Amino acid sequence: NGALGEVWNEEMSSSMLGKRLRKVVQNFQAMNKYGVRYPGPESAARRSKLSGPELLCQIKEMVQIATLTPDMEPFSGLPLASQLPPRQITADIGPFKTCAVVSSAGSLKNSGLGKEIDSHDAVMRFNAAPTTGFEKDVGSKTTVRLINSQVMASEDHHFLSSSLYSAGILVSWDPGPYSSDLREWFNKTDYPIFKQYQRYRRLHPQQPFYILHPRMEWQLWQRIQDNMVETIQKNPPSSGLLGTVLMMSLCEVVHVYEFLPSRRKTELCHYYQRFSDAACTLGAYHPLLYEKNLVKRMNKGSNHDIYTHGRVTLPGFTTFNC
Ligand code: C5P
Repeated sequence: NGALGEVWNEEMSSSMLGKRLRKVVQNFQAMNKYGVRYPGPESAARRSKLSGPELLCQIKEMVQIATLTPDMEPFSGLPLASQLPPRQITADIGPFKTCAVVSSAGSLKNSGLGKEIDSHDAVMRFNAAPTTGFEKDVGSKTTVRLINSQVMASEDHHFLSSSLYSAGILVSWDPGPYSSDLREWFNKTDYPIFKQYQRYRRLHPQQPFYILHPRMEWQLWQRIQDNMVETIQKNPPSSGLLGTVLMMSLCEVVHVYEFLPSRRKTELCHYYQRFSDAACTLGAYHPLLYEKNLVKRMNKGSNHDIYTHGRVTLPGFTTFNC
């Protein structure tokens, strides 16, 4: 729709990136840090392309939403077990009617979407994304915050003491091995997620805090690779996609903001920082480009919604049959 301007092209490929970023992506595509063993795009190319509803069904049926519980090995014998929530997140929270997932993209700046975001029953935010001072554009409600282990461990985020993390339910994740073997992961996390989790729980014992099962990352990764015609980075999906799928299991309808960039699209990485890099929107380590292709295909809303609001509409898993 030329007159309205371009929205995300769901056939986006690494060949459409600028020279520098293309090289970075290609380097990540050649690495296999987590021991991924999965058929490449040759097998995807032989199948016919799935429709949006078929894709939604694949994700609903093949991606298990799971968090760590005290009965799982090797945690059951460790002090950590007494700090883990006894039940799955999906058993404890929701179901919500409408949910907002707020990407941290720079294109949220000057969006004026705050009121609309806050009108949802539940709002998910990511990592160090603040609301204070940005209410007009991103709202002020935080129901769930999904954080990666890097944010938990890095000195400059002050994860243990900053009030940024004290609102809502926390969910954390760390890239696990492709095998999803919990013992293997426990002995070799990317960042010290368990140490930081235990420290945080001791300081804030009342705040609900879950850890995602690494299996979910790779099951979702397989759905992305299976539906793309090129080799994707052998790294877990971004927090944005992990959170979106988690919310699809807790909500009847999920509105995702500025994951597919609106007319405000910008190289500004985050709405809350003055740092610019196209890799934030297009991916480098994460297969973010391909995540966006998939979300575009599943979108139930209009291209106009994407263009003006950066808004995608996805149905909750309980609202459709496969
Ligand atoms: O950078 P961070 O991971 O904290 O941002 C949260 C999520 O928002 C990302 O995982 C990504 O899915 C999405 N994002 C985006 N474009 C940006 C910045 C973030 O799609 N420019």
